[in-house]
Amino acid sequence: MSVARMLTGDRPTGRLHLGHYVGSIANRVKLHRRYESFFIIADLHMLTTRNRREDVDQVAGNAREMVTDILAAGVDPGRATFYLQSAIPEVGDLNTLLQNLVTVPRLERVPSLKDMARDAGKEEMPYGLLGYPVLQAADILCVKGEVVPVGRDNAAHVEVTREIARRFNHLYGPVFPVPELIPADTPSLVGTDGTAKMSKSRGNSIALSDDAATVRRKVLGMYTDPNRVRADVPGTVEGNPVFAYHEVFNPDRDEVADLARQRRAEIEADRGLVDRLIVEGTERTRQEVRQTVLEVRRAMGLTGAYQQVRRRAERSRRRADAST
Ligand code: TRP
Repeated sequence: MSVARMLTGDRPTGRLHLGHYVGSIANRVKLHRRYESFFIIADLHMLTTRNRREDVDQVAGNAREMVTDILAAGVDPGRATFYLQSAIPEVGDLNTLLQNLVTVPRLERVPSLKDMARDAGKEEMPYGLLGYPVLQAADILCVKGEVVPVGRDNAAHVEVTREIARRFNHLYGPVFPVPELIPADTPSLVGTDGTAKMSKSRGNSIALSDDAATVRRKVLGMYTDPNRVRADVPGTVEGNPVFAYHEVFNPDRDEVADLARQRRAEIEADRGLVDRLIVEGTERTRQEVRQTVLEVRRAMGLTGAYQQVRRRAERSRRRADAST
């Protein structure tokens, strides 16, 4: 019996922070041994909000940092295939074909897209950003992913993927497994400022790669409780991020952090390791995706359409040859 396939991943926007760890990485570390695991570096998704040349120029470096972070967090490189999305153009082919299986109003109801547009300072929704969940469906379906562990804000994208997979199978025959969402078992982590979800762009994050001194400085500077002006005034727990972090990290947190730092140092000592992993993973995934796209085109009758045209062209050429 073959093991189920898992796909998950991130946009290469920078180093991963504790919010990513709590929201999804910890879950992946736990799950990746149970499945045949693919990790996407979703740079095409990054383009939906950051498409300046400077952003794109950072993809290679960020990809390496991100994979290093994931390995340092405990993912076994022998049990995971990492790949760079934009290096597999066939993903775009599948995206094009899937776009007709979902409506604009359905996508407009996906809450994360409006948040992303707002956070990126966009007044109007870019077409590519509206299509973000469809591209994500292409990612998941192009490797025939069966389980997708993601954080809360991605749950709706996986739901769109499930709808697209069902719709495709209904129209053209059973090609895709309908993937299952594995939700993170922890709520999203509040930032060090206590006001919002941890995110690098809000400047309220602690990176997984931060050294001990930086973590200490950030923790000491954390927003705590504005009403507690003296130690003898009783504090409140609500809205105090220090308590939120305690709840999430307190059991053996020092051990986890020390282990991750040690692993990071080992990975960084072999500088070519991560790049080699990404290249091997991308080649391997591309083979898979090519096969899937061919299967999709066959199921839809598109290969047949061109064959017909070619046969007609061939016949008319022979007729022309015969008459000269
Ligand atoms: N949307 C994910 C994010 O928030 C990245 C991503 C792209 C992804 N394609 C995926 C996650 C496929 C899981 C499966 O960064």
